Amino acid sequence: MPPDLLLDPAPAPALQEAEADGLAEARLAFEALSARGKKFLGCRVAIMGGAMSWVSERHLVPAISNAGGFGVIACGAMPPELLEKEIAATQALTSKPFGVNLITMHPKLDELVQVCLSAKVGHIVLAGGIPPGPAVRAVKDGGAKLIAFAPALVLAKRFVKSGVDALVIEGSEAGGHIGPVSLTVLAQEILPFIREIPVFVAGGLGRGEAILGYLEMGAAGAQLGTRFAASRESVAHEKFKAAFIRANARDAIPSIQLDERFPVIPVRGLVNEGTKKFLAHQAETIQKFQSGDLDKVQAQLAIEHFWAGALRRAVVDGDIKGGSVMAGQSVGMVTAIQSVAEILQELRGQAVAALRAREQTRQHVKGQS
Ligand SMILES: Cc1cc2nc3c(=O)[nH]c(=O)nc-3n(C[C@H](O)[C@H](O)[C@H](O)COP(=O)(O)O)c2cc1C
Repeated sequence: MPPDLLLDPAPAPALQEAEADGLAEARLAFEALSARGKKFLGCRVAIMGGAMSWVSERHLVPAISNAGGFGVIACGAMPPELLEKEIAATQALTSKPFGVNLITMHPKLDELVQVCLSAKVGHIVLAGGIPPGPAVRAVKDGGAKLIAFAPALVLAKRFVKSGVDALVIEGSEAGGHIGPVSLTVLAQEILPFIREIPVFVAGGLGRGEAILGYLEMGAAGAQLGTRFAASRESVAHEKFKAAFIRANARDAIPSIQLDERFPVIPVRGLVNEGTKKFLAHQAETIQKFQSGDLDKVQAQLAIEHFWAGALRRAVVDGDIKGGSVMAGQSVGMVTAIQSVAEILQELRGQAVAALRAREQTRQHVKGQS
């Protein structure tokens, strides 16, 4: 069966009775809640595969889009020529919409935007900072939709005014680079107050019931990373995926900063020898700074360089001991390698089942009164 048919199988005869029991209504209710997100993304399930450097590439991205979700290429540090190839290879494998995530501090951001526009990419995500004005204008003038990350309500309002078309609010439960506030809190701060444009929620999401809860709070859809990183179609090394299956939520911790004079960018990943060595490396570097062997800039650089290339080592080479095994707290809900279609079907099924159970409770209460 083609993967996207998995999302809407024709009801089997045995299911017909269940349909009468509220399943069809629950499905419709879920579709209604997801309608805004689906329309914005142009896909069949309002779930984005969050961009993950080294993971969200020409295999995983079309797999997500073909299965009815919305894949997003992670440009990361790629130069424009490589991004162009990655987009072309993705387009060769899907005719469905997908997006490209660009990091705002990339030195060739403007060129990367042009690469996306020339390739007719419909959605550009600007991540890693406040989207710079020229890039915002270029995306808008080029006719693509612009998605930005809003870490607080005040910025969300500013982005709406500056013409951003949709927001992602990513809680600190997420894998990769994180902000300080959980999705539970961000959602309460932002969802009731931003109605002008769609808002997608991210961070720590592993089940459909949770996605449903945020849709009911006003989210347009959700963005998941960790669950897709461990999917069958993900090119991540088998050791990387096996580490996800073994891990519990508590194993996915933010990077620890030893000294406030030397800031460490918070990144959530699985605790391993690398995370322990990073503490020792910071201690040694601070020691060298205190003894005058390094000045402040050199010490800061030495700390920052510790993780250079570490995500690639984990994802591509399978070095899960020393590499950076970025993962969200949702990693505890990764229990098997599943296809992308199975993951999407499961998430949708859980949301629909929750809606149906609620309706059945309502009917039961009504019957008793
Ligand atoms: C391995 C990994 C790499 C990531 N790399 C990026 C990235 O390059 N750019 C980005 O905007 N977000 C990145 N993220 C965050 C995801 O796009 C997504 O928002 C996040 O994974 C959602 O939380 P979850 O992991 O709990 O589902 C990464 C996440 C993971 C797990």
